Amino acid sequence: MSRLGIFVNRQTLSSSEQLTALIKCRDAAESMGHTAEFIFPVDINRIPKLDALFIRANTDPMNATYVASRIASLYGIPVIDDPASIQICSDKINMYLHLMKKKLPIPRTVFPSKREIAPEYARALFERLGTPLVLKEPSTSFSARVEKASNVQEFMRIAKRFLRLSDWIVVQEYVPSSFDWRIGVLNGEFLYACRYVIPAQTFKIQASVNGHLVYCGVESVPPEDVPSEIIDLGIEAGKAIGKGLYGVDIKESNGRLYVIEVNDNPSLDGGEDVCYPEIYRRIISYLINGDQYADTLSYMPSGLQSYMRDARFDPSTQNVLGSEEPLAYRIDFER
Ligand SMILES: Nc1ncnc2c1ncn2[C@@H]1O[C@H](COP(=O)(O)OP(=O)(O)O)[C@@H](O)[C@H]1O
Ligand SMILES: [Mg+2]
Repeated sequence: MSRLGIFVNRQTLSSSEQLTALIKCRDAAESMGHTAEFIFPVDINRIPKLDALFIRANTDPMNATYVASRIASLYGIPVIDDPASIQICSDKINMYLHLMKKKLPIPRTVFPSKREIAPEYARALFERLGTPLVLKEPSTSFSARVEKASNVQEFMRIAKRFLRLSDWIVVQEYVPSSFDWRIGVLNGEFLYACRYVIPAQTFKIQASVNGHLVYCGVESVPPEDVPSEIIDLGIEAGKAIGKGLYGVDIKESNGRLYVIEVNDNPSLDGGEDVCYPEIYRRIISYLINGDQYADTLSYMPSGLQSYMRDARFDPSTQNVLGSEEPLAYRIDFER
């Protein structure tokens, strides 16, 4: 019997979906013979007494979740999310650099600095990357600081706003698609898949439209209905960051695949687990037993299991689409 801590904060408890997800997690731990306790930021001193810690609160290197993760890691206690994953994923530039290092396909991307950004520079970017462009403030999450610019004036207006928070911004080609694939990856293995269907009023998975928040639809997709190249790319993108739990967002557009983002602390309360009732058991088993959880793959169709074991996506072949089509990693990294 082990002692699992589930790190939460006030925001984690702010909706009934989140509460239900946390209770599911606790019940899964107890059904496996462990005890589970909710750890709030004020309980941080209890972390050293735990056997494992699962963080279910927004992660940010500047807040208490990161401290909790660091404490666990300093005491040798298995933790999701680990401090390195939090650091990498909370900075889009760091995160994309990890994907680029592994030559994984991302939209064509540049990271201009404060000094470089000027109308002339923006004009040149529109010429090279097309219209519209997508601008991101590197610490954005929940689509908060991701915006489309269709001309130089808009670009400068958005960029100036983002530059108040960061010395660099992310500028990307726009990749149209009606949904994002979300591939859940745990310790380099496929965990779940769903589609985040983009609301008609916006281009991102959530947005404030005329003062109202609109959210994507969530469609859990069973493994046999997910193209294997999407699963493979998701796994590779997760592995490019680390060995924890990640939610990888992938777009397919004009026959090409693009990793849009690797998230640590992926949301599991929106219905992502409908086709994957074992998600929490697998996470807990991984946290408590380390790598020995291969038997929990048994709910997956056997064809896919052997496929995942034997035919890992090899980015060096550039053949993720199973055709002659080269991957879209024409990355312009200017710095
Ligand atoms: N290059 C892009 N082209 C088209 N849509 C994009 C692009 N980048 C992001 N998006 C949309 O915006 C959403 C938020 O962007 P993302 O990079 O995930 O930032 P955040 O960390 O704030 O969630 C994505 O889920 C996706 O739907
Ligand atoms: Mg995102």
